[in-house]
Amino acid sequence: MSIELQSELQEAVERRRNFAIISHPDAGKTTLTEKLLLYGGAIHEAGAVKARRAQRHATSDWMAMEQQRGISITSTVLQFEYQQCQINLLDTPGHQDFSEDTYRTLAAADNAVMLIDAAKGLEPQTRKLFEVCRMRSLPIFTFVNKLDRPGRSPIELMDEIEQELGMQTYAVNYPIGMGDQFKGVFDRRSRKIHLFERSKHGSREAVDTVIDLGDPNIEDLLEKDLYYQFKDELELVEEIGSEFDLEAIHKGQMTPLFFGSAMTNFGVELFLNSFLDYALKPGGHTSTKGEIEPTYPEFSGFVFKLQANMDPKHRDRVAFVRVCSGKFEKDMVVSHARTGKTVRLSRPQKLFAQDREVIEEAYPGDVIGLNNPGVFAIGDTIYNGQKLEYEGIPCFSPELFAYLRNPNPSKFKQFRKGVSELREEGAVQIMYSADEAKRDPILAAVGQLQMEVVQFRLQNEYGVETTVEYLPYTVARWVEGGWEALEKVGRIFNTVTVKDSWQRPVLLFRNEWNCQQLQGDHPELKLSAIAPVVSGQQPVEI
Ligand code: G4P
Repeated sequence: MSIELQSELQEAVERRRNFAIISHPDAGKTTLTEKLLLYGGAIHEAGAVKARRAQRHATSDWMAMEQQRGISITSTVLQFEYQQCQINLLDTPGHQDFSEDTYRTLAAADNAVMLIDAAKGLEPQTRKLFEVCRMRSLPIFTFVNKLDRPGRSPIELMDEIEQELGMQTYAVNYPIGMGDQFKGVFDRRSRKIHLFERSKHGSREAVDTVIDLGDPNIEDLLEKDLYYQFKDELELVEEIGSEFDLEAIHKGQMTPLFFGSAMTNFGVELFLNSFLDYALKPGGHTSTKGEIEPTYPEFSGFVFKLQANMDPKHRDRVAFVRVCSGKFEKDMVVSHARTGKTVRLSRPQKLFAQDREVIEEAYPGDVIGLNNPGVFAIGDTIYNGQKLEYEGIPCFSPELFAYLRNPNPSKFKQFRKGVSELREEGAVQIMYSADEAKRDPILAAVGQLQMEVVQFRLQNEYGVETTVEYLPYTVARWVEGGWEALEKVGRIFNTVTVKDSWQRPVLLFRNEWNCQQLQGDHPELKLSAIAPVVSGQQPVEI
C-alpha cells in the first residue's frame, strides 16, 4: 500500500467518531440532536431540525402517510465537525416509527448514546435497544436529560442502570440540585462547576460560567443547603463509586454518565468534549477473511439499511452502506459478495436530513447512501481486492404478527413479487404457518408502522390491495438447533410454531410470561430473540 494512502486512512480514522442515540420516545432525542448539530456548526439556531421536518411534510407526497400521522419514517445520517473531529450521528428511527431499522442502525454504529429522562429512568424502548448494543459490546454513553425539571435522584438513576443493565456507571459530571433548584453540574474531569443560568441557555450556544470548588462565594452561588447536599453525594460517589476505566467503557461494561438539559442547551458541550475523548474510533469488523481493520487499503463496507422512495420525485431506493475499510471514491467499481457481480457506485450520497449532496469520497466510519437499482439486500458486503464478506445483520425479535392476504387471485404474481422484494429490503420479516394448509404469509414486525408501510407500498408500487388479520402474539423466539431440537422436547404448550423465510422454526408466544414459562419447563430448549444470520442460502418464497 502506498504510504500516502496508509497515512490518509490513519488520519481519517483518528478524526472520526460515529454513534447512534438510543432512547424512549419523549426523552429528548430530537432536542439533543439539534443541540449537537448546533455545537457542530451544522445548524445555527436550534429549531432547524424540527423546521426541516415540518418542511419535509409539506413537500413529500409519497409519504402521505407520514404527513397524516405527523411522524417521520425516513431516518438520516447527520455529519458534523467538532474540534477537528468528524462526528457521524446515525439517526435511529424512534417513536411510533420504531422498526427493525432502528436495531439495524446499531449494527453500523461504533458507539451508542443512551438518552434518559431524569424523571423516568430506564424505559422499555431504551432497554430493547440496549440489548442490541450489548450484543455488539458497543460503548454506551449515558446522557441524563431534563435536569431543569424535577426528576429522580442521580444516585437512584445510577443504581438502576447498574442493577438492571449490569453495567458499571461512572458519573463524568454530577448535578447540583434539580428542577427549579437546578444549579449546574460539577465536571469531575476539570473539577470545576458549570453554573446553570436559566435565562442564558436556550436555542444558541452559550458559554458556561465556570467556578472552582474552592470559590469563596460557592455557598451563596449554589445555595447553602444544596451545596452541602451536593458535597455529600459527590463524596459518596467518589468514595464508593467505580474508578474510571476506559477499557471497560470501550467494552460496554462501564457507562460514562452525563447530566444536563438538552432543551436549555446545558451540559451538551461538556458531553461532546468527553465523548470525543472516550468514544471508540472506527474499528475492525469480522469477515470471512478475519478481522478487517479500517486501514486495510482496499475499500469494503456493508449494507445495513435500505430505504425506499425517500425522494418523492424519483421513487428510488437508497442502500445505506457503512464504510469499513479503505477509501471510497465516487464512481468506484466494486464487487458484490453475494451475487459475485461488479457494481459501479455512481451517485453516492451524503445525507443530511432530506437534502442529498453527492459525495466524492468517504472513509471508514462514514455512511454513504447508494442508489439501489434492486441490487442490494440488507447485510450485503461490497469490496475491492480479495473477496470478503462481513457477518451480516441478524433478524430481531418481532412483536406484531399478522396474516397478509391478497383477496384478488388475478394479482397473485404482483403480490408474490411485492412480498418478496419488501422482505429482501428488510421492510418486514416474513414467516409462514407450520400448517401447510395455511399458505398466507405472516408479516412479522417490530412496530405497527412497518405493517402499514408494507400494505401502503404493496398498493402503491405493486397495485395490490391487501388485508391483514392480526395474530394474538407479541413474542418470537428462534429455536437453537432447529427442528431437531424442537422435536426432542415433544409437546409444548402456550405457543405456536411458525417457520421463518429460511424454514427455521420460530415459536410465537402471547406474552413474555408464556415464553418464560416454557423456558422454565424445558431448560434444555435454547431460545433466542435474535435470529442467527444466514449467509449464502436463499430464503424460501411463497
Ligand atoms: P424525542 O425526540 O426523544 O421524542 O423527544 P423531543 O426532543 O421531541 O422532546 C420531547 C419533549 O421533551 C419536548 O417537549 C421537548 O421540548 C422536551 N424536552 C427535551 N429536552 C428537554 C429538557 O432538557 N428539559 C425539558 N424541560 N424538556 C425537554 P414537547 O412539549 O413535547 O415539545 P415542544 O413543544 O417543546 O417541541
